[in-house]
Amino acid sequence: MAAATAISGVGLTLGISTSAVRSRTSLVTMAVSLDEKTNKSLTLTKSQEAITAAKELMPGGVNSPVRAFKSVGGQPIVIDSVKGSRMTDIDGNEYIDYVGSWGPAIIGHADDQVLAALSETMKKGTSFGAPCLLENSLAKMVISAVPSIEMVRFVNSGTEACMGVLRLARAYTGKEKIIKFEGCYHGHADPFLVKAGSGVATLGLPDSPGVPKAATYETLTAPFNDFSAVEKLFEDNKGEIAAVILEPVVGNSGFIPPKSDFLSFLRKITKENNSLLIFDEVMTGFRLAYGGAQEYFGITPDLTTLGKIIGGGLPVGAYGGRRDIMEMVAPAGPMYQAGTLSGNPLAMTAGIETLKRIKEAGTYEYLDKITGELVRGIVEAGKKVGHAICGGHISGMFGFFFTEGPVYNFADAKKSDTAKFAKFYWGMLAEGVYLAPSQFEAGFTSLAHSPDDIEKTIAAAEKVFREI
Ligand SMILES: Cc1ncc(COP(=O)(O)O)c(C=O)c1O
Repeated sequence: MAAATAISGVGLTLGISTSAVRSRTSLVTMAVSLDEKTNKSLTLTKSQEAITAAKELMPGGVNSPVRAFKSVGGQPIVIDSVKGSRMTDIDGNEYIDYVGSWGPAIIGHADDQVLAALSETMKKGTSFGAPCLLENSLAKMVISAVPSIEMVRFVNSGTEACMGVLRLARAYTGKEKIIKFEGCYHGHADPFLVKAGSGVATLGLPDSPGVPKAATYETLTAPFNDFSAVEKLFEDNKGEIAAVILEPVVGNSGFIPPKSDFLSFLRKITKENNSLLIFDEVMTGFRLAYGGAQEYFGITPDLTTLGKIIGGGLPVGAYGGRRDIMEMVAPAGPMYQAGTLSGNPLAMTAGIETLKRIKEAGTYEYLDKITGELVRGIVEAGKKVGHAICGGHISGMFGFFFTEGPVYNFADAKKSDTAKFAKFYWGMLAEGVYLAPSQFEAGFTSLAHSPDDIEKTIAAAEKVFREI
């Protein structure tokens, strides 16, 4: 086993077979053949052993599929600890981390101030199952930050937030159909698991076994950034559409920003049709700007979902919006939604401390500066040695694709050379850089990433691009 776990740069000695790879939004089949050599080596013996054991205990050895490295081949790396911009695995390898626990770590991992506040809160207990003052504090912060939110309900994950907001939109409008976009992920609740793209898209066929047709029957899909597809769905389903839900900047098929008028177009068409506009800001909330994508683009939706950053690394989600809509939520109104651990004091504390820090002057300027440098550096380095590559960023959210681009939607994103991405991925790991293990995921920087981290990452990319 030890021999099989030594990884030399991109030259894996592991047998990696052609695999059907499930990104979070679609099935992508790719062949991974990693046979080049670099002079860097990465010992992952303990990680390999831990994952082999984990596979006997948990499906695929993980508790969330994207962690399994299926898109890049090989075995996932098992993490021992995180601090600032760094992660250390159980074999003792250190990485500059651009996943940030998939978004929450905007001030860096295991921040001292957050840890200190958590240990104070912990002295009073970990869960009350009853109201606490911390809920008021975080609610006030969210309401004053996010333009569309006049009232908020805290839950425990982004999935829960999206489930709740969908029920609310249907309850408020009395309509059942929704429009979502191909490549946008809104958690794993049945109605959102609709296959992106292809001929079945608008038929609302389920994307996973176990999702009943009835659960997705009312889910209509359109390509992101496609004005006429949305117009047609409204025409064909007159008076029946409860809401349009989207990631205002897509992060779940890689980084894809909206075309300049797309969000204002959605605002207008939803108003004209008495439908609600829902921004799923689980990823973009407090990430693109303190007030999220809606502040950044100046478009105010009716309802918003949040998660990730507002929990500061603990499990939190939220949905909120106009007061008249939110007052339909139980117990103020008839729309039922509940949660045993919702609003628990630890999660509220981590959220409050994180928001306090990112509210300070200069946060988003700094994130924009370092992230812009990072993406420009990577894209230029790739182009210099002849790779087809394009990329972009807003504040501390970024992505790049192994294709000439431009990338406006998931179909464009799928033109990426995913086999090349896999080689690049392992090459970067060997250089001490941890990227999201899929071409179809956005990356994140944090206030803890230093200009030196960025320089090192670009230098690593230059080296790896020459080798793949
Ligand atoms: C935009 C968006 N919505 C919803 C979710 C689901 O959140 P969670 O994984 O916390 O259930 C995610 C998760 O990545 C997301 O990015």
